[in-house]
Amino acid sequence: MSSVRTAPSILSADFSQMADAVKLIERAGGDWIHVDVMDGQFVPVITFGDKMVADIRRHSKLPLDVHLMVETPESQIERFVRAGATHITFHLEAVVHAHRLIQEIVRLGAKPGISIVPSTPAESIYELLPDLFQVLVMTVNPGFGGQKLVPSCVRKVEKLAAERAKRDLGFFIAVDGGVNRTTASALVAAGTDVLVTGSAFFSSDDPSAELLAIKGMAVA
Ligand code: DX5
Ligand code: ZN
Repeated sequence: MSSVRTAPSILSADFSQMADAVKLIERAGGDWIHVDVMDGQFVPVITFGDKMVADIRRHSKLPLDVHLMVETPESQIERFVRAGATHITFHLEAVVHAHRLIQEIVRLGAKPGISIVPSTPAESIYELLPDLFQVLVMTVNPGFGGQKLVPSCVRKVEKLAAERAKRDLGFFIAVDGGVNRTTASALVAAGTDVLVTGSAFFSSDDPSAELLAIKGMAVA
């Protein structure tokens, strides 16, 4: 058994058939449902808001892993927690008072995550690591599915895993962007716990085999 988790991203699903997409993730054995919220400001694209989370919540008991790619996430957190988000991850690059926002997410009853884009060094979140449920390492520049992994991000995962071991911390390391059966093994070897996958999952003819292959497990 692999302890690596997968989090298929509904960004690559047909938005008009979201309940089917959620069922597909469940049937295929996805561990979390990754929900990419984009505001057209922090990233160019607009996706959806807290109502989508509330609607998905009615169709699944899986953890909803909400990834906020938005400016001023502090103004949105409460809505998403009330809608049923299990994890709330915001971008370090979008806030000044990251520490305060982490405390606020916990106070509201969700698990806090921080994400960093490829140009942000791992060290920039070292002060925050003891308070985090997860670090979401962007392995592409956020905004679109279907991009190629930025290779230098593998080293960033290694650094975070080394820091976690050195300080005996327990946060998850998740990676997001360009994850497929070819790129996943180096990310897992570097210390990744959670593989977010959008296009590789939703474009597959056999999504459950795809998740096993991404986790590096033999496909029967
Ligand atoms: C990108 C999003 C990702 C996206 C990944 O900005 O944060 O979650 O869905 O898509 P793939 O797996 O296609 O790179
Ligand atoms: Zn994402």
